[in-house]
Amino acid sequence: MLTIEQVRHQDLPHARREQLRLLASEAFDQFAIVRETRWAAPDWTFLGKADDGGLACFYHLVERAVRIDGQPVAVAGLNNLITTRAYRGRGLASELLAASERAWFSSLDARCGLLLCAEALVPFYQRLGWQRVRSEVRFEQPAGVRTWTAECMMLDPTRAAIDPTVIDLCGLPW
Ligand SMILES: CC(C)(COP(=O)(O)OP(=O)(O)OC[C@H]1O[C@@H](n2cnc3c(N)ncnc32)[C@H](O)[C@@H]1OP(=O)(O)O)[C@@H](O)C(=O)NCCC(=O)NCCS
Repeated sequence: MLTIEQVRHQDLPHARREQLRLLASEAFDQFAIVRETRWAAPDWTFLGKADDGGLACFYHLVERAVRIDGQPVAVAGLNNLITTRAYRGRGLASELLAASERAWFSSLDARCGLLLCAEALVPFYQRLGWQRVRSEVRFEQPAGVRTWTAECMMLDPTRAAIDPTVIDLCGLPW
């Protein structure tokens, strides 16, 4: 059973922010697409603490008005979902997402969730209700607009089907 804390990313103590940055670097810097992309700064961090008080898992969230087929839509952008090694394989990342998703659609006022990931993670997120979308996903980089070449998934709070043609992230990706 996790204890979940939702904290503004900028309000995290420096040591905690550094710990999360190192965990993300260890998990993702091996991928060229991650190293070569400029990423958005998160707005929120959701921490999942184990019974012993230790950090078991976390993720960051970006709040963004994106354009979906030309219409502005407030999305909750999921980023850097990580379970620390000692706690993996116990259902904790799934529990953290399932238990905190309602905050995205109530207090944060998002209309849907949106994440970018590698193909291997698609079944994991599908089990939690996320849908793989085939949309063209555009985002900004210092050198201009780019198109995402890996997977994009979306989460509808009612689990209604979503299938946009073009998603413009209207800024840096997450
Ligand atoms: C992915 C991750 C967050 C899962 O955390 P967890 O608390 O162990 O997750 P759960 O116990 O809820 O679910 C485990 C399932 O996740 C899936 N999974 C975990 N790592 C995976 C990977 N690298 N590729 C594909 N699926 C993976 C598997 O289906 C696994 O089920 P299994 O244990 O039966 O094999 C964790 O492995 C992690 O931090 N990985 C490194 C960072 C990462 O890849 N994050 C996802 C970013 S999109």
